[in-house]
Amino acid sequence: MRRKHVPVAVPQAERRDFLRKMGWMSAGVSLASFYASPAWAAEDCSDPNYNPPDYPQDCKAPAATGQPVPFTPLQGPVLPRKSAFELTPEEITKIQSAYRALRELTVKDPTDPRGWQQQSFVHCWYCGGGSDGQQGMEIHGSWWFLPWHRAFLYFHERILGGLINDPTFRLPFWDWDTQSGSPSHQTMPPIYTAILKELNPLSNTRRGETATARIPSSIVGPTVIARILGQSTYATFGGAGNNGQPGQLEQGPHNQVHVWTGTGKTTMPDCGTDMGVLATAARDPLFFAHHSNVDRFWDLWKQIPGHDNPPDDSWLSQTWTFYDEQKRFVSIAVKDVITTAGLGYEYAPVKGVAKAVAAKKAPPAATTVAAAASTGSAPEPLVVTSKDEGISLTPKPVTHSVQSLPKPQKDRMMAITPGAKQRVLLKIQGIEIPMTESAQVRVFVNKPDATAATSVETPNFAGNIGAVAHTRGKQHQNHAKTFDATIELAPETARLIATQGKVSVTLVPVDAMGKQPKDISLKYRKIVLETE
Ligand code: C2O
Repeated sequence: MRRKHVPVAVPQAERRDFLRKMGWMSAGVSLASFYASPAWAAEDCSDPNYNPPDYPQDCKAPAATGQPVPFTPLQGPVLPRKSAFELTPEEITKIQSAYRALRELTVKDPTDPRGWQQQSFVHCWYCGGGSDGQQGMEIHGSWWFLPWHRAFLYFHERILGGLINDPTFRLPFWDWDTQSGSPSHQTMPPIYTAILKELNPLSNTRRGETATARIPSSIVGPTVIARILGQSTYATFGGAGNNGQPGQLEQGPHNQVHVWTGTGKTTMPDCGTDMGVLATAARDPLFFAHHSNVDRFWDLWKQIPGHDNPPDDSWLSQTWTFYDEQKRFVSIAVKDVITTAGLGYEYAPVKGVAKAVAAKKAPPAATTVAAAASTGSAPEPLVVTSKDEGISLTPKPVTHSVQSLPKPQKDRMMAITPGAKQRVLLKIQGIEIPMTESAQVRVFVNKPDATAATSVETPNFAGNIGAVAHTRGKQHQNHAKTFDATIELAPETARLIATQGKVSVTLVPVDAMGKQPKDISLKYRKIVLETE
């Protein structure tokens, strides 16, 4: 799955000219700080010991300065975050000036907590750390995923606005789910890839894709999006618990767009990726447009009747600290970010499938559930496969089946209709992926011949499991992330199982392009089907 690493945005000569003009090259300032990769020519990606000179060895988040001040909701108007494909020329100029200033800040004062590099370190610190293994709380793979990134983006937005002295600045979002537009929004937004006379501060040489490449629909197509927005609880949509239970939004397009934008490399050294590894992802300005869309999905999901955030106080009262645009050290709680109004933004509508799905989904209707099935206790979980020492995936799809579905499960599943309280949960437990590697797997139900070429636009498609590499640090090579994935089956998928009276689960490994990978490193211990 190795692809060639081609600088997609700024030709080398153009970059050097600009640097010379700015007097930085002669001053000996590492332009590594200005652009992620200043010297492609010098990089030897075939050397297994090679680490790019600017790769974060120590990505400690900026240190605390005294007691943090508590967050106060933003005063002033609630302004739209718009699609990165729909910005006006003035808005484009603004975002370019803001990111240019952000990068310049790192060159002028690398210790300024607001600068481009320090902000990427904040993300790195919260996701498993750099090569030295420094790390803070893990905010991926759990119910922290959505609120932490919302808070991080908010401060990023304030800082960018502060740098251009424009408090009305709002981040754009990369609506990779919009497929009806012309051009389709499945390419990287052109403002992030454009070649400008001056260097484009939104570009990044460490990407694996060209400006015209489109994210495959198997990653962001209508059924993938419908499955995600159809998860009826925050737990399966956005993640559960403190650690090790990622939701479908994270494991689907979130992870896969990271890896698609970075590179498909799953082996060390991961030379040439920023987005493809969490420790380096926030070095790419596109990270913030990608996460703005992930954040927009939280908003879309929440607008669907019956969808609620966790009520738990342990979730709501969790706080994190960030530096704001005035270099104030601020503490912000999950309860401060559960709506976007206090953060001063809302999502402008785009003509995408996500909105349509949201509008179509009916509120829960108790009457749609057959009385017989809605009473009595839920049947025992059905074990589809279980092996204590774990089952290792290979690049080829694998199927586990139960030939005949027991009657209690069958009855229960027949009663599932859209909006029903009953749910069928497919649980894939004890998943293990090395910290240094990404792994993506599509899950099909009752489709034992499914391969990477099988369309996901089918009732048989259940969802995605997987993870993005956390770090390239060699000392993590023997460390693994372990987690459980729970997918709530769509009513049409559950009915398929019930009417066929049998169940099979097919795991289809895919690479960054959605094709069968050359290799994959993923183990799992158990697959269970639960009817609630
Ligand atoms: Cu914190 Cu998309 O990663």
